[in-house]
Amino acid sequence: MSDKPLLVTCGLPYTNGSCHIGHLRTYVPADFYVRYMRRAGEEVVFVCGSDNHGTPVVISAEQNGTTPRELCERYHHHFDETFRRMHISFDHFGMTDAESNHRRTQSLVSRLIERGYIYPMIVSQSYCPCCSRFLPDRYVEGICPHCGAVARGDECDQGCGQHLEPGEIKDPVCKICGTKAESRDQEHYFFKLSEFGDFLLEYLPHLRGTSNARNYALGWVKEGLRDWCITRTLDWGVRFPGHEDLVVYVWVDAPIGYITFTEEYAAETGDDWKRYWCGDDTRVTHFIGGDIVYHHCIFWPALLKAAGYGVPHAVVASGMVKIDEKTFSKSRGYVVWTNEDYLDQGLSPDYLRYYLLSYTSHTKELNFSWKVFQERANNELVGTLGNFMYRTLLFAYKEFGGVPEGSVSPEIFGEIRACIDAVDRDMRAYEFKSAIDTMMALASFGNTYIQQHAPWKLVRDDPAAAASVIRDCLQIVQALVILFEPVIPGIAQEAWEMLGNAGAANVSGVSDALTEITARTLPKPAPLFEKLDDDKIAELEKRLEIRVEEAKMKEAGMKEAGMEISIDDLSRVELRTGRILSAEPVQGSKKLLRFEVDIGGEVRQIVGGVAEFYTPDDLIGKDVVVVANLRAAKIFGVESRGMLLAAGDEASLLVPLRPVTPGTRIR
Ligand code: MSP
Ligand code: ZN
Repeated sequence: MSDKPLLVTCGLPYTNGSCHIGHLRTYVPADFYVRYMRRAGEEVVFVCGSDNHGTPVVISAEQNGTTPRELCERYHHHFDETFRRMHISFDHFGMTDAESNHRRTQSLVSRLIERGYIYPMIVSQSYCPCCSRFLPDRYVEGICPHCGAVARGDECDQGCGQHLEPGEIKDPVCKICGTKAESRDQEHYFFKLSEFGDFLLEYLPHLRGTSNARNYALGWVKEGLRDWCITRTLDWGVRFPGHEDLVVYVWVDAPIGYITFTEEYAAETGDDWKRYWCGDDTRVTHFIGGDIVYHHCIFWPALLKAAGYGVPHAVVASGMVKIDEKTFSKSRGYVVWTNEDYLDQGLSPDYLRYYLLSYTSHTKELNFSWKVFQERANNELVGTLGNFMYRTLLFAYKEFGGVPEGSVSPEIFGEIRACIDAVDRDMRAYEFKSAIDTMMALASFGNTYIQQHAPWKLVRDDPAAAASVIRDCLQIVQALVILFEPVIPGIAQEAWEMLGNAGAANVSGVSDALTEITARTLPKPAPLFEKLDDDKIAELEKRLEIRVEEAKMKEAGMKEAGMEISIDDLSRVELRTGRILSAEPVQGSKKLLRFEVDIGGEVRQIVGGVAEFYTPDDLIGKDVVVVANLRAAKIFGVESRGMLLAAGDEASLLVPLRPVTPGTRIR
């Protein structure tokens, strides 16, 4: 084994929105792993930071009427604080917009240029004629060229998940104003990723971490790698060396943040960052969600290799979080916010940690539902773990005033040792659920043990026998507190104190679970866990339901009366006049007509619910009003790309009063 410390990092949160429980599936398991490895005797450095650059941040700032810098600072503090509330304890939490990261990125990129891994090329890129600008990444929406799903400029986020290069997206539309994008030629810089296929084929099979990361990445490499465009036309970001009008793509400076944050941490503590990042025996371990495997297992190792740094030792990729079996979606309301929906509701961070860690194996999808959350907390944390610890502590306190003199049975040490060994194997294999199930099985063993030996019966006739049973149980409680601390640090600390210990619970090592508990007086214990009652859970479910309903209303355009929108909001709706060229009933529906509408240079198929009020002949040749940039939808199996505006229960179609050319923009 290497004598290097373990460096653990987490996928950096974008500073364009609040922390939700989807994020937590990266941070909680990483924190669990770090806490455990420290208890197992490893030296671990745990760094993270916020991801400040890229179009997600610029667009959010624009929509919120603020600057990218201000938005980043606001959300940086938000994440920092939320992580503390969740007992996620980074040694350092930096920002990718820090001067130090600009410097580290420019030095790494300059090194790549020197080494001949970067070259310029003219590419045709999406350009918005209405906003007069190029449309990098999330400034453009369109259709994924690989799978046909609606996609963002740099990523097919709702379909096949593939990374998209500038200019690849089909039917691009400007995200800001909704205008159809044109393509224009521009010079950009490319990284010779295609030269790293052999390196990756050699590297990936040995990459530690979870098999999903390794296998997906190997599959992609085998399909062939193309060179990677690493510059963007944006103001916000890290300048591409020697080009005032270009910044590097956010996926260059964000992972470099991992190095910068290590540097910053090392500077604070008098350590040397090169220990972690140089040489071929690094112990860099990245925790991420399954959505960013490509970036961490392909782009990132290739960049590091090209620039002469060590490459990551492990990538631990989680399955994605769903809400009530629905794909996580802020816009559709399927989201649980860490603060407002959870912590601010008075719920314990430890319960959520337990749920996220023990619900399913780390690489699988994790469904969140308040019902199941309640069941797991009440049955396992309260019923099994809490019940055993509290009844043991209470009995010891009442009958003996503390831990009675004497020695613990060998059988008990055997149980604990077997548990520790199994947990250790699982933790080193990133099998977090299995590790916790094993811990919980020790609590169940404790419950069975105390039940079978019934010290409350023994205590009358044979107090020594009762003392011996309760001592055994207290030894198990001590082991449980030590083992569970990385899972539920807050509650474990309370239990640690109830066991008569001073100081922090997390200073003892895993092997201390086997240190024989000494006779001592104990304070009066209190229950460690509280049941989640049905009313509270019903209230939380209702919150989620309302959010989903509201999102639906918003989607349908049923804005609350009196709600104000800005001129910018209005300009995002592209209204045009259109001439109905043809109309016919939609098979199987009494209400729908299928139209072909000339919207100026383009004939659109649009489905409208007006068949009860018009015959096709009433409408052919009429000029109507069309929402031209409505997302395409399938209605009765027919694709509809746009919507006709109509008023009232009988769908009186809106028409221009005077003749206009089809496709005239309505302002
Ligand atoms: N900024 C990038 C990561 C750059 S790393 C050099 C990013 N940010 S994020 O805010 O979208 O996500 C932060 C972390 O949370 C990532 O590890 C991501 O995979 C994870 N998750 C965000 N939403 C998630 C779910 N719904 N489910 C599981 N994990 C998800 O990606
Ligand atoms: Zn796709």
